[in-house]
Amino acid sequence: MIHIAWKCPNCGARLTPQLTEKPYVLRCEAGHSFDVAKQGYVNLLLPQKRGAALPGDSAEMVRARTAFLDGGYYRAFSDGVNALVLDTLLKTNTASPHLLDAGCGEGYYTARLHGALCAEGLSPVCAGFDLSRDAAAHAAKRAKAAGTSETLSFAVASLFEMPVADGTADGIINLFAPVAAAEFARVLRPGGFLLMAVPAEEHLWGMKEVLYETPYKNEIRRDMLEGFTLTRVRRVTDRITVTDPDHIRALFAMTPYYWKTSPSDRDRLYAQQSLTTDIAFDLLLYQKDAVQ
Ligand SMILES: C[S@@+](CC[C@H](N)C(=O)[O-])C[C@H]1O[C@@H](n2cnc3c(N)ncnc32)[C@H](O)[C@@H]1O
Ligand SMILES: [Zn+2]
Repeated sequence: MIHIAWKCPNCGARLTPQLTEKPYVLRCEAGHSFDVAKQGYVNLLLPQKRGAALPGDSAEMVRARTAFLDGGYYRAFSDGVNALVLDTLLKTNTASPHLLDAGCGEGYYTARLHGALCAEGLSPVCAGFDLSRDAAAHAAKRAKAAGTSETLSFAVASLFEMPVADGTADGIINLFAPVAAAEFARVLRPGGFLLMAVPAEEHLWGMKEVLYETPYKNEIRRDMLEGFTLTRVRRVTDRITVTDPDHIRALFAMTPYYWKTSPSDRDRLYAQQSLTTDIAFDLLLYQKDAVQ
């Protein structure tokens, strides 16, 4: 089994998979050991950190997002992520990249990225991290069912303290999850990349037309991150029609409008049987700066 450079959350030493033991565990030289759950994920969040950390998304939120994403409405966006990562890896001749998905949720983008790179003849080693146990469990289960869990792992961990050794990752994707620039810079090798996504002007315009009398376009965001240089921006757009009212609700719950909309405006959206809307994202590709 090929795996990423796991780091013990207790003492910082390398964690090595112990393949002969059942249940299968990850163990460091000091003897700290972490069981791999039956779904295939490993919990690397220390008990003392579990209480302090936010629990991440609930099982219900994970289910709703999975139903929406598996509906394929954001496939163009996932394809855009995959194409940009592939292009970046080919430019640097990285045939066996170590890639991390920081705040991977239920693993839709992680799994499709891993699959797309394998289809192009690369040998990626990918790991996704999320604070939500339900999300990590779902992601790991899917990888197991697809027979990809050898090189596609999932862990419960905070992206602010990733259980990964310094300078060992070739790239990180960070989609709609908190940004931890200093931690990302720590785990990336020199010249490694970080891919983030931000909504473009027209994103969800059709949804906003239903919700608001005077909808506003999104402001363009170009976050500058310490330790990184923004090297490329690629826009991905599509027009989607969501025909299942449950999927309309799930999409709404994935947006910031969910928290900001009055119940009466929200109910107008919930009454729709079908919703057609533009979607538009900007993919921001950053390169880790050389350390002076
Ligand atoms: C909006 S979801 C996006 C998930 C996934 N990237 C996607 O686009 O489908 C944000 C995710 O970040 C996770 N999250 C929030 N804070 C986190 C942290 N400190 N460390 C790891 N994951 C975190 C949540 O549990 C949730 O799954
Ligand atoms: Zn240890």
